[in-house]
Amino acid sequence: MTGVQRLKLTAAVLAGTAGSAGAADVEVLHWWTSGGEAAALNVLKQDLEGQGIGWQDMPVAGGGGEQAMTVLRARVTAGDAPTAVQMLGFDIKDWAAEGALADLNAVAAKEGWDAVVPDALKAFAKDDGKWVSAPVNVHSTNWVWANKAVLDANGLSVPETWEDFTAAVETLAAAGVTPIAHGGQAWQDATIFDAVVMSTGGPDLYTSAFIDLAAEALGSAEMVEAFERMAFIRAHVDDNFSGRDWNLATAMVINGEAAFQMMGDWAKGEFLNADKVPGQDFLCFRFPGTQAQVTFNADQFAMFDQGGAVSGEQAALASAILSPTFQSAFNVVKGSVPARTDVSNEAFDDCGKKGMADLAAAASSGNLFGSMAHGHSAPASVKNAIYDVVTAHFNGEYDAETAAEELVTAVEIAQ
Ligand code: BGC
Repeated sequence: MTGVQRLKLTAAVLAGTAGSAGAADVEVLHWWTSGGEAAALNVLKQDLEGQGIGWQDMPVAGGGGEQAMTVLRARVTAGDAPTAVQMLGFDIKDWAAEGALADLNAVAAKEGWDAVVPDALKAFAKDDGKWVSAPVNVHSTNWVWANKAVLDANGLSVPETWEDFTAAVETLAAAGVTPIAHGGQAWQDATIFDAVVMSTGGPDLYTSAFIDLAAEALGSAEMVEAFERMAFIRAHVDDNFSGRDWNLATAMVINGEAAFQMMGDWAKGEFLNADKVPGQDFLCFRFPGTQAQVTFNADQFAMFDQGGAVSGEQAALASAILSPTFQSAFNVVKGSVPARTDVSNEAFDDCGKKGMADLAAAASSGNLFGSMAHGHSAPASVKNAIYDVVTAHFNGEYDAETAAEELVTAVEIAQ
């Protein structure tokens, strides 16, 4: 018996309705395949199993979800859409515009989602007044993860500014320590770029370049400076960075083989999965110069229209995801923060508490921005065009001036 068959049988037995509609499964397409991600996903699987709903797993490895979105397109084209799909920002809007997503308004109204889900998430979860996806969490990209013992051994404290950061990196390099753990994949380069652009030019540059897609900002002197900073980062990663998965880069920081990783707070899931404690073993802080800002991405589960009304299993999955207990239990493990504003921070560690406080403060001070790298500032076509330029520059194909020029052209063509 395969694992999937076993799950189905368990679900049917639990529900006591083998063979009837109540025993149906949800097939979930997602890219949560690292140790920390899988641990978080188990919280959801168990929640559903407890309700007698079987879980058919459809994992597509690849951080950031690009590969998952390619597989999704193929499945939908073949007329075989999964029940539920992990999805980010503008991808949800694109699928909703194609009329592919089920209407979750009934469950949303019954459970009062409108009152508790922040507007920044509703902007993607609702299409034309209709709820089309269930928000799972809020992540953000402008974080740095550090090995505390490595910093202590080198007499370093948390860098507050870009200059502090470059000084710390140079101290580490001089001591023979790999300063920055990184995986050379386009989405990871772009994740760093979110924070570097915000730090270099502040919210004005970030908004004009990544949200308004203004040519003057994309080709500005500040953007050239942002690329110069990316080159500094590239000069301080180890020789084997190319193609490395993000969680293996996190492992380098966990194991003291490198000092820093710039990565979204899904990295925290890896530290926790390795039994590391924030403040003792590792430190989390905002990328220097972006302390007041949050560049967010929210995982949501979009429900694909299976031909007719939303199914009982889809409604149950959506309801489980938005329940306050699940929002706390899942996000504590995942490294993200709740997608509802009314969940207590009690169960969260210090990094999680900081994440929740930062998010609330950024939302109320106008400092909350969608992550370019994770599909929350512009549609996938534009995001992918930016990826190409950022990665080509990171790998030495362009100097900073040329990269900024290429960015203008690439974004223009992509629109
Ligand atoms: C998702 C996270 C995920 C990360 C790495 C991001 O796009 O929002 O949930 O952990 O990619 O796979």
